[in-house]
Amino acid sequence: MTFRQRHLLGIEPLHPLEITTLLDLADTYVDLNRRAQKHADVLAGLTQINMFFEASTRTQASFELAGKRLGADVMNMSMQASSIKKGETLIDTALTLNAMHPDLLVVRHPHSGAVDLLAQKVNCAVLNAGDGRHEHPTQALLDALTIRRAKGRLHRLNVAICGDIAHSRVARSNILLLHKMENRVRLIGPPTLMPSEIGELGVEVYDDMRDGLAGCDVVMMLRLQRERMDGGFIPSEREYYHRYGLDPEKLSHAADDAIVMHPGPMNRGVEIDGILADDINRSVIQEQVEMGVAVRMAAMDLLARNLRAEGLGAA
Ligand code: NCD
Repeated sequence: MTFRQRHLLGIEPLHPLEITTLLDLADTYVDLNRRAQKHADVLAGLTQINMFFEASTRTQASFELAGKRLGADVMNMSMQASSIKKGETLIDTALTLNAMHPDLLVVRHPHSGAVDLLAQKVNCAVLNAGDGRHEHPTQALLDALTIRRAKGRLHRLNVAICGDIAHSRVARSNILLLHKMENRVRLIGPPTLMPSEIGELGVEVYDDMRDGLAGCDVVMMLRLQRERMDGGFIPSEREYYHRYGLDPEKLSHAADDAIVMHPGPMNRGVEIDGILADDINRSVIQEQVEMGVAVRMAAMDLLARNLRAEGLGAA
């Protein structure tokens, strides 16, 4: 099975076999990244531009490192300080960059759909590093790789996604991926933080952590995304932690070998107990970061192969 995509804009267009192909390749990059000599030159001669219109620490660093390990020329554009501030439209920025002949464009943008729009205007492969509340495909893929390595499989698992689902592109991409791979997904959180399209997602919904976590194999916590809220979604952070924050007692309702995940950045004492987050017997949060680099290497490698097959990109 090959990976037929021109871009990586979301999980939605991916076939389950394409997901497996990407994760299998990522496994080989995990091994490479654990060696002293971490270089493979599958992107040598290619130019990768990272355009982040929203603040990011781990995702941007992860894409940068992934590109450098594979030998690409990597440039980070700080879009906060760019001509966007001078009134240039997203499309004009895209066309300007396109004229510089990048091969891979990694884009994060606060508006859902902005990355898809941009992909229609450029010749290179575009990777979505998060667009509004829409999708964050590499996060879902790195979560999938983490789960597959910890549980030995990526199907017939009970996965709970907890907290601020409404504002979360991470939750959306994960729900899509986990369903494609035939897992059961439960969403747990206050009704005010559930998305309006909940009925169409094919998930079970709970507003009680203990009921929702019962027997779960994977517990995925989400950050309260204050920057996307405009008022009264939760009574107070203390009250929120009491009802929805993951602590050892609430976790005891999940399966004995349940793993705890969080995409970061995490608010200790708001959505998760700090000691539990650091407990290497339960938490795979550091593994998620490690898998992130490998998954992004795999994604860019596969997209670059497709560019070459089309006669685009460096030979
Ligand atoms: C997430 C994001 O930006 O969507 N972070 C990430 O990429 N690791 C989640 C978040 O910001 O809470």
